[in-house]
Amino acid sequence: MRYKTGYSCKLEYDNVKNKIWNAAVIGLGKIGMTYDFDIKRTHPSSHVLAYNDNENVNLVTAMDVENGKKEMLKKLSPTTSFYTSIENALKNKNIDIVSICTPQQYHLKNIIEVLEYSNPKIIFCEKPLVKNTNEISLLKNIVDNKKCIIIPNISRRWLAELQKVTQYIAQGEYGSLEKISIRYTRGIFNTGTHLFDLLKMWTGNNIEKVRVLKKVSTSSEDEGEQSFSFFFEQKNGVYGYAEAIDDREYYLFDIDLFFSQGKIEMRNSGNDIYCYSVGKHSLFSGYRGFKRDKHISGILSDSSMKKAVDNIIDVLEKRAFPVCTMRDAFYPIYVAETLLKSYKTGKEERVDYYE
Ligand SMILES: NC(=O)c1ccc[n+]([C@@H]2O[C@H](COP(=O)([O-])OP(=O)(O)OC[C@H]3O[C@@H](n4cnc5c(N)ncnc54)[C@H](O)[C@@H]3O)[C@@H](O)[C@H]2O)c1
Repeated sequence: MRYKTGYSCKLEYDNVKNKIWNAAVIGLGKIGMTYDFDIKRTHPSSHVLAYNDNENVNLVTAMDVENGKKEMLKKLSPTTSFYTSIENALKNKNIDIVSICTPQQYHLKNIIEVLEYSNPKIIFCEKPLVKNTNEISLLKNIVDNKKCIIIPNISRRWLAELQKVTQYIAQGEYGSLEKISIRYTRGIFNTGTHLFDLLKMWTGNNIEKVRVLKKVSTSSEDEGEQSFSFFFEQKNGVYGYAEAIDDREYYLFDIDLFFSQGKIEMRNSGNDIYCYSVGKHSLFSGYRGFKRDKHISGILSDSSMKKAVDNIIDVLEKRAFPVCTMRDAFYPIYVAETLLKSYKTGKEERVDYYE
């Protein structure tokens, strides 16, 4: 009886722990592979290098529709076989983990193909998980009958320093949250996934209503992305404003959380968190102002990709639950779709999302 005693459980755990897990990567673009050719990025930044660097993983196979990716793959992971079809990449290879790193419009199709040609234990799929709420329903039906776990890569979820903000808010360190102010680039699905997920993770609350105020250009319009400045309100009455900026001017992802007794700022695309408490104004008598009392820096120098792969191994070896779930990935798609609706109607719209 394998699980009868604690001792047997430990044996089972130790056996699994030494296993090498076979991985595959579908889509060898920026997040799939080429980010790790950028010397400015923290490594590993791509799925290929994160698997290649992990001693518990053998990156057996990778595929891209562009044959030109073969030579780059050879440089980063010389022993990995390259294919231009998912069927050839996966069939009869006994793959445990498949990463999907293709553009968003292919994710559902690729998940279906992966499940047709292989039997992985985990699919690690880039965000946004699928392209709309219809596809969410289709995906739920597909995975309900399978044993495969889908782990979406909402990458900031793996950064423990960003999760500290959740504790500060829950413990009321700066009083009650009142307003949220955001500046962002690259659209409601692309950056929107990170944005809506971060706000939910930090505040424990969903956005309930949105109203688009202005459409703003973005370089990712060709990929079907849209960017809007918009007003939003959470279930608890906390409200905020998101200012969209064209990423061709500059890349930006800043968040300010205003509390009754302080402020928390996310700056440098999430690399720095500054916390302020309220005290006497430093310049004007009779007024109150902010005094900085914490600075968490270098948050993005931690490789979220390495942490994600570590978490995947822990899930496979039954030491942990996924840090990011399908459910986490569904909610931002509902918010983005409601923004599209508000843009069309010109009105405030309610986010039709239920846990
Ligand atoms: N988690 C994050 O922080 C993060 C960061 C960047 C990108 N992403 C997401 O990753 C996905 C890919 O983005 P990217 O910037 O790497 O895109 P990209 O365009 O750089 O790369 C996509 C790759 O997929 C290949 N491809 C296209 N169709 C394919 C198909 N049907 N089968 C196999 N390969 C195919 C292309 O040839 C290309 O090499 C997007 O969903 C994006 O939102 C997430």
